[in-house]
Amino acid sequence: MSKRTVSVWTDNRFWMRSAGWITGFSAVLLIWLTFDTLAQIQMGDDNDLKSGIAKRVPGPTVINYNIKYQFNEKRGHEVPIIGEKEKFFGRDDYSEEEAGKLLHIGKLASQVKNCMNCHTLLGNGAYYAPDLTKAWLDPKWDEVAFLGAPTKEEGIAKFLMDPSGNVMHSKAMPNLGITEKEAKGLVAFLKHMSSIDTNGFPRNFGKKNLVVNEKRGNQ
Ligand code: HEC
Repeated sequence: MSKRTVSVWTDNRFWMRSAGWITGFSAVLLIWLTFDTLAQIQMGDDNDLKSGIAKRVPGPTVINYNIKYQFNEKRGHEVPIIGEKEKFFGRDDYSEEEAGKLLHIGKLASQVKNCMNCHTLLGNGAYYAPDLTKAWLDPKWDEVAFLGAPTKEEGIAKFLMDPSGNVMHSKAMPNLGITEKEAKGLVAFLKHMSSIDTNGFPRNFGKKNLVVNEKRGNQ
């Protein structure tokens, strides 16, 4: 009996082998991407901030510094610039532990009060209310602070504790019974979140607020 020639495309072994190679390659790629991402999102610390080392996710003590955004030609979008020291609720010397505790309270409060039910944080959540990823940089706060609170952070805290009394847009945020302690933590949480390098997300946020500022080797 003569041997039948089988086209490679109809040969089962070809497809099995291809499936094996593709699965293997994808697995290696995914494992590599996972480790690469973990390294990229690793939170920095106070020493990084003090020595001007730019981390995508700066340490909690970034709340001691001024945060601005600057257009980066090479990357084609705005990147965060951690500037000079700046007072936050009257202090610019929060230790890593103190700042970490504040952020923790803020994070818990954001979960308990379910901010994501209406807002988006770092790409997760709803679009009923403004995106909160860079809300700390909203130029609106300068006006709110002007409306009675001596500083921007106190103005935001005031807004969070009584949002229905300080309506800025057409929709009002309901009063969620946020305490003073929670509000302070939430403002720290928002400030820290605004310092995270999110590759220009959300697109074109607060263009008005992008003031060229002193660089700290973030380019
Ligand atoms: C039920 C929906 C809802 C929930 C839940 C909610 N918000 Fe809001 N929030 C809104 C709306 C609507 C606005 C716009 C209000 C305005 O402009 O006066 C707003 C505005 C804001 C703003 C101003 C944003 C800007 O830059 O203009 C901040 C900051 C904010 N909310 C923080 C929070 C935080 C923090 C939480 C969770 C603790 C939260 N919100 C929970 C509906 C909500």
